[in-house]
Amino acid sequence: MLSPGAILILVIAVFLGAPYTPLDSNTLFVTQKFGETSRVAKNLLLVTAHPDDEAMFFAPTLLALTRKPEVNVFHLCLSDGNADGLGSVRKAELGVSVELLGIPKQKSWVINHPQLKDNITAEWDSAVIARAVKPYVTELKIDTVLTFDTRGISGHPNHISILEGVKTLIQNINATTPNEPLPRLFSLFSAPLATKYISLTSVVMGKLDLYIYFALRKLEDLVIFVISYQDPTILAPLIPRHEEMGASPVFISGYEGYLTSLSAMTAHASQMVWFRWLYVGFSRYMWANAWDEVHF
Ligand SMILES: *[C@@H]1O[C@H](CO)[C@@H](O)[C@H](O)[C@H]1NC(C)=O
Ligand SMILES: *[C@@H]1O[C@H](CO)[C@@H](O)[C@H](O)[C@H]1NC(C)=O
Repeated sequence: MLSPGAILILVIAVFLGAPYTPLDSNTLFVTQKFGETSRVAKNLLLVTAHPDDEAMFFAPTLLALTRKPEVNVFHLCLSDGNADGLGSVRKAELGVSVELLGIPKQKSWVINHPQLKDNITAEWDSAVIARAVKPYVTELKIDTVLTFDTRGISGHPNHISILEGVKTLIQNINATTPNEPLPRLFSLFSAPLATKYISLTSVVMGKLDLYIYFALRKLEDLVIFVISYQDPTILAPLIPRHEEMGASPVFISGYEGYLTSLSAMTAHASQMVWFRWLYVGFSRYMWANAWDEVHF
């Protein structure tokens, strides 16, 4: 029998050991509709609302993506975060933060639009967002846009507005160039409040989830192998399968990634009030990101 002390040590060991290395699935945001060839992210644009969003919420994704030479990662921040009159300071902090996360400063922009002001009670107009983001999407040939989901992680209305704005943009592009492949849109999953501040627990659970998924994939491959052996044509529409395809994209940082996210956060020195220290200590978004594709 294991004594309670031994069990406690085992649990602590699992928690401290789990973040030793990063683990990701579907890092290229691969999707495939039945019978079509798969789509892979090549030019990605992350759209955020305020300087520090990129470090506070999206760091695990950015760190994994910017390690991949085959993808170009761009970042667009829709406001300079001037709610407290610190706009120019925060812009400079953002430059340091994105570089730490692997995005050259030249690939990160801040829009300072009069109708997209940092304001904790203001919803931003979708049409204004669509117009502001459009030149970046077309000129950079963006195929994959990443942003907040309908709950905006923290519920900030500026965050929530972006999803609708980008949807409006993609619909406009669809209306003007109906035959071009449209950019795909992915939103960062907002965890329910109860699991938002679980820090390392998100690493343990996220990794467990991914390992189970990988095991099921192996099983599926085996089944496909057996079926194809019997009749090679039966699964032909699904082949070639992209190696990464399948799971929704998940990014889990290791210790090194966490420390990088932490330095990116502290680069936003003007924002590091006491409760932000609690945030960086306990938030799951400092460790893990999960993405959903937005269909419309
Ligand atoms: C923020 O938005 C609210 C509601 O949209 C508005 O009433 C208020 O004046 C805005 N504050 C600033 C500082 O612009
Ligand atoms: C694009 O336009 C076509 C034709 O009007 C429509 O069927 C399709 O649903 C649109 N796609 C999006 C993403 O809006």
